[in-house]
Amino acid sequence: MIRSENGYFGEFGGRYVPEILLPALTELETMFHELRDDPTFWQEYVDLCQEFSGRPTPLTPLHRLSKQLGGAQIWLKREDLNHSGAHKINNVLGQGLLVKRMGKKRIIAETGAGQHGLATAIMAARMGLQATIYMGADDIERQYSNVFWMRQLGSEVVGVTTGARTLKEALDEALRDWAASVETTHYVLGTACGPAPFPELVTYFQSVISQEIREQAMKQMGRLPDEVVACVGGGSNALGAFSAFIDDKDVALVGVEAGGLSHKKGEHSIRMLPDTAEPGIAQGYKTLFLQDEDGQLGDTHSIAAGLDYVGVSPILAHLSQTGRVTPESATDVEVTEAFSLLMKTEGIIPALESSHGLAGGFKRAKSMRPDQHIVINLSGRGDKDIFNIARAFPQQEWSEFLMREAARCQQLVNDAAKENN
Ligand SMILES: Cc1ncc(COP(=O)(O)O)c(C=O)c1O
Repeated sequence: MIRSENGYFGEFGGRYVPEILLPALTELETMFHELRDDPTFWQEYVDLCQEFSGRPTPLTPLHRLSKQLGGAQIWLKREDLNHSGAHKINNVLGQGLLVKRMGKKRIIAETGAGQHGLATAIMAARMGLQATIYMGADDIERQYSNVFWMRQLGSEVVGVTTGARTLKEALDEALRDWAASVETTHYVLGTACGPAPFPELVTYFQSVISQEIREQAMKQMGRLPDEVVACVGGGSNALGAFSAFIDDKDVALVGVEAGGLSHKKGEHSIRMLPDTAEPGIAQGYKTLFLQDEDGQLGDTHSIAAGLDYVGVSPILAHLSQTGRVTPESATDVEVTEAFSLLMKTEGIIPALESSHGLAGGFKRAKSMRPDQHIVINLSGRGDKDIFNIARAFPQQEWSEFLMREAARCQQLVNDAAKENN
């Protein structure tokens, strides 16, 4: 189990927020500690995940691919089979239970790729809460299908038009809203970042992933795996997949970041390898941030919107610096190759984020022995992301289909307008 020391993990973590937010963070921390010590709460959470999201998710052996690559036996932890198509729902359902206990009726969230926003909108609808989701205006353009669903689910989606109009600005805006509405509102943070207690709290809920892997590995492999691999954006699915193995020193834990186009500044989102990021304080916490020459938050790039983030969980920053987690990266090209390989060999459509874990995991599996076992956390499915994936694999036929679909939709809008006049 991963625990902080007063909100810190080594030198990283902490709580660097306007004074007005301190009481809310303290209240959240107190409630979290109380519930974490209450054995019935974990069961309540697991039951909710089971009845609403389909947990436990399977541990699937990849027989054909393992044989083809000729190394270790490869297994996938199938977070893609969760309701809403990714691991994000685990954290959101857990925070939903906390909100109910705190008696708050309104939630806010920030979202980049839209996955966390969608999971939050689903939770709000299920639990009868009012939700406002902040999203950069450019991300709204890129991820409109998720915006469509969030609004259909009854959430308000607010486009943020300041700065680079992406996740960083959405996060700043969500913090501003929270400062003004903290009495009635809970901020549902989507990854293991931000001010304490969020990194620890999100990791606690996501640890359901590694608790299941342990049990399933004992049944299906007869022992613990040799390696567990996961992609790293903010760090929540990786910490979820790693946390129950932290004390098992024989289980290697490998986090794969977005290698993007190259290791040049602005062309990747690698924060845990030496010489890419530096310690800094921003967005309420201390971690390794990508920075420019003036110490401002730097530019990032990834083929996967969900990995395109400038900071990383303070827990992972600490675990990588102390050597418990091995950092790796995968380039956009390696990611698209791993994506296609999994689809064509095993019939599973992965998210582009998760395909970073696949690329890193396949590479490592090849250099391992056939009697060894490697588990890759498949954090999300790709078929929900068809628009993003189609952009990564541009095709004339798809483009023509979208134009015909747009014309059909416009016709329906025009007909409806005529009828209303
Ligand atoms: C499917 C999927 N995997 C991984 C991530 C990265 O987030 P994290 O590092 O918090 O797991 C995202 C983020 O949106 C995602 O949608």
